[in-house]
Amino acid sequence: MTLGDLAAKKDAGEPIVMVTAYDHPGAQVAEVAGVDMVLVGDSAAMTVLGYDSTVSVTVDEMIMLTAAVRRGLSAPLLVGDLPFGSYEASDAVAVATAQRFVKEAGCDLVKLERGGTSVDRARAIVAAGIPVVGHVGLTPQTATALGGYRAQGRAADDALAVIDDALALQQAGCTLLVIEAVPAEVTAALVPLLDIPVIGIGAGADADGQVLVFHDLLGIYGGPAAKFVKRYADLRTAAIDGIRQYADEVRDRAYPAAEHTYAMAPGESARLQE
Ligand code: KIV
Ligand code: NA
Repeated sequence: MTLGDLAAKKDAGEPIVMVTAYDHPGAQVAEVAGVDMVLVGDSAAMTVLGYDSTVSVTVDEMIMLTAAVRRGLSAPLLVGDLPFGSYEASDAVAVATAQRFVKEAGCDLVKLERGGTSVDRARAIVAAGIPVVGHVGLTPQTATALGGYRAQGRAADDALAVIDDALALQQAGCTLLVIEAVPAEVTAALVPLLDIPVIGIGAGADADGQVLVFHDLLGIYGGPAAKFVKRYADLRTAAIDGIRQYADEVRDRAYPAAEHTYAMAPGESARLQE
């Protein structure tokens, strides 16, 4: 996949498929499944690191996870997610962080959240030669300021603010836009106004592509998920079942069986007994 391929898919009306991944086996299954793009989201904070929200994850943690994904990926484009506090303060800080994601983790693009000052940061990163993905609508890094994890743009004024942010990010040179948790009507109004592809998550069927969190779509954790999540597998149940069976077989001495056991070289066992 190249950036040109993404634009071509949008022009041809072919949906772009993106999924998150956070480690080497996750990258490999995404690759074999044939996705177009992989995002190492700062959702890693919750999905793999056990934090309460995305704000806690550090650049070093994200780089470690992203580099592992890079080693498992060849065809799909790799997007790194700039974590909270790693790009907002100045253009220089934003460029330095984005460069780490390229140099140390091999990202093809980096993603940042919000409009406002993030538009300037996006412009600076693009000027430094690194393709940028914008992220508007529900922006989890600043969810507290948005009134929590809830759909954005349900009122027309709020929807226009989301659309303004999206237009400003395109103007700043973003290659792609993620729009999260907005009514389908907002996405339908936005997409014709933009030249760049729009990847939706909880943003209806009118986006140019979709992204979901690996752990959400594969059912890797228990508990409730957001309204927009569809579970395509129940890996948590499968994993618990597998480990329970293993535990039972160890306790019953059914595992290991002969086929899991090494034998000594011929004749050596008899000598050992002597
Ligand atoms: O961190 C993440 O997983 C994301 C996607 C949900 C777009 O930003
Ligand atoms: Na994110």
